[in-house]
Amino acid sequence: MKVQAIKEKLAELAVEIAVATHFEKEEQPQGIAAALDEVTGGLIRSIMAGGDFTGKRFETLVLFNNKSIGPKRIILVGLGKKKDFSRETLRGAYSRAAQSIRKLNLKTFYAAGDWDGAAAVNLDVGAATEAMVEGAMLGLYQFNAFKTVDRDQIREVDEFVIVEDRDEVFEQVKAAAKTAELIAQRVNQIRDLVSHPGNEMTPKDLAQAALDLADFSKKLKTTVLEVKEMQELGMNALLGVAKGSDEPPRFIIMEYRGAGEEEPPIVLVGKGLTFDSGGISLKPADKMDEMKSDMSGAAAVIGAIRAAADLALPRNIIALAPAVENLPSGKAYKPGDILKSMSGQTIEVVNTDAEGRIILADALFYAQRYQPQAVIDLATLTGACVVALGEHAAGMMGNNDELKQKIKAAAEVTAERVWELPLWDEYQEMIKSDVADHKNSAGRGGGTITAGAFLSKFVGSYPWAHLDIAGTAWLGKDKPYIPKGASGFGVRLLVQMLREWRKDS
Ligand code: BES
Ligand code: MN
Ligand code: ZN
Repeated sequence: MKVQAIKEKLAELAVEIAVATHFEKEEQPQGIAAALDEVTGGLIRSIMAGGDFTGKRFETLVLFNNKSIGPKRIILVGLGKKKDFSRETLRGAYSRAAQSIRKLNLKTFYAAGDWDGAAAVNLDVGAATEAMVEGAMLGLYQFNAFKTVDRDQIREVDEFVIVEDRDEVFEQVKAAAKTAELIAQRVNQIRDLVSHPGNEMTPKDLAQAALDLADFSKKLKTTVLEVKEMQELGMNALLGVAKGSDEPPRFIIMEYRGAGEEEPPIVLVGKGLTFDSGGISLKPADKMDEMKSDMSGAAAVIGAIRAAADLALPRNIIALAPAVENLPSGKAYKPGDILKSMSGQTIEVVNTDAEGRIILADALFYAQRYQPQAVIDLATLTGACVVALGEHAAGMMGNNDELKQKIKAAAEVTAERVWELPLWDEYQEMIKSDVADHKNSAGRGGGTITAGAFLSKFVGSYPWAHLDIAGTAWLGKDKPYIPKGASGFGVRLLVQMLREWRKDS
């Protein structure tokens, strides 16, 4: 779907459909709803007076306009109670509106920049526009790449037009719409990567996807390391995990230089298990198919660095994505095996299903060579995180309060929630091995934290934060603007953090 901003008066445009919002309990229509009420001769007021629309959160109602002026249809969307409002409300409202419009099989829809008076709820008009565009674009996402039957029944909305006639804010609205479009496009693109099944998204395919994404300009330099180069580097932890698969691993490196050479980069690391069967410690069959999404962290960092380049952010950024398939075979690594990581530290493999932390060990150590100002890793790392936080928050751990604070602040804006867990010494004790330096699993108790503690052993002398996105990357149930399946979690969060990077430090 394309997004556009035009300088017009929406209430007077003869278009197919326009969105109008309304807060619950508000007596009179406001903003664009008031203007549309006027051109329709009181249509909205009469519907409200009849009690057919009250403005409950995400309630929708389509009205027909019989007058010869203005939009042919109006879709009313409830914003709920004013006191509960946040930009998350707007995202959900415009998603629900867009989804209803898609059901009606309409191709273009219109909304006012001044939906209901952003100022009335203390929201900047640019932030409001971003939320509207994000909500609509993310909410309309669908993954149909592998459907061949009845393709003509697939409905798609082609265009979202934001109409703003106030000179003083038009440019701001237009710029915000563009920014949100660029970001949401990347979120949807990485949802596509994550939705692709293991046979269509091998380590090689993921590397190719990164190369394709980078191809658009010279701004993103992409290097893909193959087995021989990884051997030379001594990435034997990563290579150990990869041994069970006939698909050779890749180590994807993307570099974006938006700041001066002297500025140390921010390194983003993403877990890229293109499929995680558990290996010799094989997972149960139930939901094993969802482990095609075990490369969500890798996809998120690839999407985020591309978005940063699209937005020409003035930062230096590196994305590292180790891409591996974890399968059992006669060549596979086994419980009891000891791997020597690139850092020189040894790892006792007590469970081959705790593979993510092993490949990240080498990636986090590799990150040190950039002398980064910060490293953030995203990984679908533990089932324990799903138990603790469900689908509604990522687990956050790290060694630096300022960095964690930056992530929290960004999470507040994008509503990709993070919740901090401690990395106390007791948890570090739990991963001591009798025969090697560390063991890769300490059993069930505190499983998310012991995984984080394991990663911390391979972190260099840089500020570091780890986000366990096992619960948030793949949803079993729709959210208002995140259809079930691949959520794209992390892309907006990272981009938001990068946009604000210097301002608060
Ligand atoms: N990729 C899984 C974690 C996961 C589980 C992600 C459910 C998304 C949904 C990870 O590689 C894994 O298998 N972790 C093990 C670790 C255990 C063996 C210590 C787990 O959580 O069971
Ligand atoms: Mn696993
Ligand atoms: Zn995994």
